[in-house]
Amino acid sequence: MPADDVLLEIEDLRTHFLLDDGVVCAVDGVDLRVRRGETLAIVGESGCGKSVMARSILRLVDPPGQIEGGRITLHRQDGPVELVGADKRLLRQVRWRDIAMVFQEPMASLSLVHTIGSQIVEAVRLHENVGKAEARERAIDMLERVGIPKPRHRVDAYPFELSGGMRQRAMIAMALSCRPSLLIADEPTTALDVTTQAQILELLRDLQAEFGMAIMLITHDLGVAAQVADRMAVMYLGRVVEYGAAEQVLAAPRHPYAQALLRSMPRLGRASRTRLAAIRGMVPPPFARPDGCTFHPRCDSAMAGRCDTVTPSSVVVGDREVSCLLYDDEQQEREERR
Ligand SMILES: Nc1ncnc2c1ncn2[C@@H]1O[C@H](COP(=O)(O)OP(=O)(O)OP(=O)(O)O)[C@@H](O)[C@H]1O
Ligand SMILES: [Mg+2]
Repeated sequence: MPADDVLLEIEDLRTHFLLDDGVVCAVDGVDLRVRRGETLAIVGESGCGKSVMARSILRLVDPPGQIEGGRITLHRQDGPVELVGADKRLLRQVRWRDIAMVFQEPMASLSLVHTIGSQIVEAVRLHENVGKAEARERAIDMLERVGIPKPRHRVDAYPFELSGGMRQRAMIAMALSCRPSLLIADEPTTALDVTTQAQILELLRDLQAEFGMAIMLITHDLGVAAQVADRMAVMYLGRVVEYGAAEQVLAAPRHPYAQALLRSMPRLGRASRTRLAAIRGMVPPPFARPDGCTFHPRCDSAMAGRCDTVTPSSVVVGDREVSCLLYDDEQQEREERR
């Protein structure tokens, strides 16, 4: 088993969309680790590649998207498996049983023509050798756990018969029915009202404690990330620019983009009249990624002749990893002094 109990390891993942007009490098060299039982929040502006990265893990990217390179290693109790080159059989095994996914819009992942119960039963029986009656009991139990009232009755409901919040709960029940070691939740609460959102987050936290699973929580809401995350990865244009303990990243971000992002977002506990700073400039169009550090045209600390030509690699700065040439220099100086 790898050091510090890593469950999922992503190395230099690249997922591109080959379109007629050019190539969209949606994920362009992501390095990440998820440890057993922890919550990792993935944050970043719309379009930075959070969903494509998450879908790449379960190989759910449809053409013209394809994984161009990199490694995704799942460290199971009985040894590591590699997901980028995995065959269909292994992927079927991994989905639901090791890694389950919840999407922003549950209607996109629940079948409309089957009852909630029959969908959970099918997922359970695909992975475990249990009879129909037992799987149905498991479904009822899970629906109860996620706080759906009258689960014995609701188990026979179709998704359209449930409210948005209840559908999201049913989706979570289905995702957890095989007790995965990792739950990927892509904006699971964005479409819900604030009260339901808080309930779902609390529910995820309870279930996490109960099942000991890790959660990769994708969100553009830093308030949500602050509430639940142990660790945090900030993405910009298909790469992770800063990665570290959530509390520290939120308290003192190091990457100029992470600093700007935090300044631009409303946060819990901050006076509501405080003016939010906009990040200068625009996210460049997907076909025209800037050379060097892709954030340099918008960066107040950009160094001419360097940030526009050299692509930063990730360096360890204190308690975290940052992809920025400002810190690259620091590291180089330290190495030279040695
Ligand atoms: N099917 C597709 N075809 C072409 N480009 C795509 C496709 N899906 C995603 N992209 C592009 O990949 C990039 C990353 O998209 P992605 O959906 O991962 O962003 P995101 O970070 O999840 O954004 P959001 O916060 O809005 O959900 C974007 O530039 C997007 O336009
Ligand atoms: Mg998304």
